[in-house]
Amino acid sequence: MIYLDHNATTPVDERVAAAMEPYFERFFGNPSALYRWGRVVRDAVEQARAQVAALVNADPAQVVFTSGGTEANNLALQGWSRAHPERALAVSAVEHPSVLETAKALQRHGTEVHWLAVDEHGVVRRDSLTAFLKRHPDGLVSCMIANNETGVLQPVRRLAGLAREYGAVFHTDAVQAAGRLPLDFDDLEVQMMSLSAHKLYGPKGVGALVLDRRLVVEPLLHGGGQEQGLRGGTENVAGIVGFGKAAELARAEWRERSARLAELRARLEAGLRRLPGVTLFAAGAERLPNTVQFGIEGIDGEMLVMALDRFQIAVSSGSACSSGGGEPSHVLLAMGIDEARAKTAVRISLGKDNTETDVDRFLAALERIVADFGITR
Ligand SMILES: Cc1ncc(COP(=O)(O)O)c(C=O)c1O
Repeated sequence: MIYLDHNATTPVDERVAAAMEPYFERFFGNPSALYRWGRVVRDAVEQARAQVAALVNADPAQVVFTSGGTEANNLALQGWSRAHPERALAVSAVEHPSVLETAKALQRHGTEVHWLAVDEHGVVRRDSLTAFLKRHPDGLVSCMIANNETGVLQPVRRLAGLAREYGAVFHTDAVQAAGRLPLDFDDLEVQMMSLSAHKLYGPKGVGALVLDRRLVVEPLLHGGGQEQGLRGGTENVAGIVGFGKAAELARAEWRERSARLAELRARLEAGLRRLPGVTLFAAGAERLPNTVQFGIEGIDGEMLVMALDRFQIAVSSGSACSSGGGEPSHVLLAMGIDEARAKTAVRISLGKDNTETDVDRFLAALERIVADFGITR
């Protein structure tokens, strides 16, 4: 099997699995317990908090562990809006469903929500944000760093700086960027940042919201006061330890990983350009080094995914969460791409263990499929 779907999820690094292993049976205590068996586990959770904080150059006290990126995004948007019910929210039109659907739910409950437009490359339009900030200088803005489908990078530092000038709060979903790009919480001028372990070779079901502790945010899960009162519930200790280890490895290795990925992607894109009928989406924008979204005229994206599956190659059409629904990608539609072309979209997302041979086999399989479909220049 050739796995080319690392934006959907990544395998757990063996060093991460090894770090987690003792926290299932040997160190099973509750981190809130006062006796030694609890304290050992508490120390492990705090070490992981420091490792995750270091990945984004934040203070450990700013890290709130959650069940993943989805919960972190919900905590940011819902938690802030519940604490500031009269304030408006702006989200970019190309966000992950965990932001878009949260915004829609808040809208149903009375929050004023604005959708920030993107240009033809999928980059958020500054004038769209300015228009929101003029009307709602005390609002909340949510804009991702890297898009999960196209890989397009948003100018978050500039947008967050603009929001700060007006006095608004800025949240960024850094789930796809973390471990692939250098991230600095303070330098980005954001007040909240969402992270997820399973996109950086950590386990599924654990993530974090990094936040400026001066912000007033209401917890979504009320309980025993864990996570500084912002997220009740006994901690997912093994998951958190794994997230910490994965963050530590990503911090040490991201530069080398990203340089290799960029080389592999250049090879992949050169191969794709040689095939008939291929469009590379958002090719003119700055993107994550591992992501390519493309379409072949006349071949439905989901059909292509299934055809590649017969060659034991795993790729995705659109985002994993919405694939299977047959709906064209909201990201491509927001970029002004028509429905027919958007439906051809397939996403390749490379990972640290992919090789040139993987890329070449993928291209060879694609060539066969294109020929079978009778597509010629
Ligand atoms: C940009 C982005 N945000 C949030 C999420 C959700 O993260 P999780 O799967 O940890 O809930 C994803 C996962 O696909 C994502 O790509």
